[in-house]
Amino acid sequence: MSTLIKNGRIITAEQDYIADIYIEKDKVTLIGENLKNQADKVIDAKNKYVIPGGIDVHTHLDMPFGGTTSIDDFESGTKAAAFGGTTCLIDFAIQAKGTRIRDALDIWWEKAQGKATIDYGLHMIITDLPDAHMEDMSDMVNEGVTSFKLFMAYPDVLMVDDATIYKTMKHTSKTGALVCMHAENGSVIDLIVQKALAEGKTAPIYHALTRPTTAEGEAVNRSIALAEMAGAPVYIVHLSSNDALEKVAEARDRGLPVYAETCPQYLFLSLDDMGKDGFEDAKLVFTPPLREKWHQDKLWAGLQKNTLQIVSTDHCPFCYKEQKELGIDDFTKIPNGGPGIEHRLQLLFEGGVNEGRFSVNRWVELISTSPAKMFGLYPRKGTIAVGSDADIVIWDPEFEHTISVHSHHMRVDYSMFEGKKIKGNAETVLSRGEVIVENKKFLGKTGRGNFLKRDAYAGAWD
Ligand code: URP
Ligand code: ZN
Ligand code: ZN
Repeated sequence: MSTLIKNGRIITAEQDYIADIYIEKDKVTLIGENLKNQADKVIDAKNKYVIPGGIDVHTHLDMPFGGTTSIDDFESGTKAAAFGGTTCLIDFAIQAKGTRIRDALDIWWEKAQGKATIDYGLHMIITDLPDAHMEDMSDMVNEGVTSFKLFMAYPDVLMVDDATIYKTMKHTSKTGALVCMHAENGSVIDLIVQKALAEGKTAPIYHALTRPTTAEGEAVNRSIALAEMAGAPVYIVHLSSNDALEKVAEARDRGLPVYAETCPQYLFLSLDDMGKDGFEDAKLVFTPPLREKWHQDKLWAGLQKNTLQIVSTDHCPFCYKEQKELGIDDFTKIPNGGPGIEHRLQLLFEGGVNEGRFSVNRWVELISTSPAKMFGLYPRKGTIAVGSDADIVIWDPEFEHTISVHSHHMRVDYSMFEGKKIKGNAETVLSRGEVIVENKKFLGKTGRGNFLKRDAYAGAWD
């Protein structure tokens, strides 16, 4: 199979030019002006942007959490991702306490194989790491699982202590793997939560009000200190507040290999979107929670200055009916997480490019190139170059639409961004040379996505 993409404006993190792209099988084999190669399929991309497919490095598909399971599995979640121009994701496998991390890897392969419609990698969430099992982490790296998430929140469920964090980081400093940190001071938050419940404060808004920004800032600071002592890099996930951002900025100014992502919900939503509708707020219960609105400008500035390198979604969808409703009498029982896998590129294009905050190149860098570099996929993915996988999105910058539960492809029964008007959308999506979205239809086969063995964190990249 060969494909010729004609006349498109090719945008990578570094370049912006008009040319044709020739694809043979799954790879880009030629880029140039007025290519005359015979092709099985020709796509006219005149007046369109041609970008590397989006890479979402933070998703939770088919994940057991809070007494239920996230509602998108690897089939529905990857399809929704593709409609939004994401052609690769990295999901989180979770080690159940008392089991080996190898078991979790097998469970997540089982979930993904035969279902994923785009390529996927896995991070491993470590919940318990006895000394006798430390070497399991090296096995993971050999399997291409080169990043480990640790939780400083959710005591008794997912949280690990500082010694475990330090030991894990010491190990990654030798293997080149990367620790992804959920940074919130879980022990203190738990005390604040218990006090709120004792006072009868059970509504969803109290999820947000019991998780102060200082609890995030403190944990980010501590994780950076632990990483510095261990001589390891650290990647802060779903950073939500200025308190946390300042700690990352300070560390980076000192030259430490400290990185961070934020997510669209923290850039577009705030506490102002909660507190009006009683239990409807449960739709916006995720962790870290929404913050006061002024934090948004700080996060956008962080993206502009490269204090934040990546925007991921933390897609962790639970339906309002029956799933979020588990916490109708007690906010601590609301499964934490929100849906967003489909709208990351659109939202970042709207808030970043259309609203004049950064260039189209920076947009591509945030949603594709930096994720590929950070997580050992570059240059196979994250760029458009001869030899790279032909994961390519034809982006229509003029397409106007309104985000809504009535038109999205995620399985969840609400949208966090309901009614938001957007200009710009993925028109045609190729994954390894195969057109998987065209004319608003999904054309890819279920199960066609491959597991990606990722390289270890490159270290030298900033
Ligand atoms: O509320 C969230 N973010 N749920 C997913 C799990 C996590 O902490 O990333
Ligand atoms: Zn987390
Ligand atoms: Zn998450």
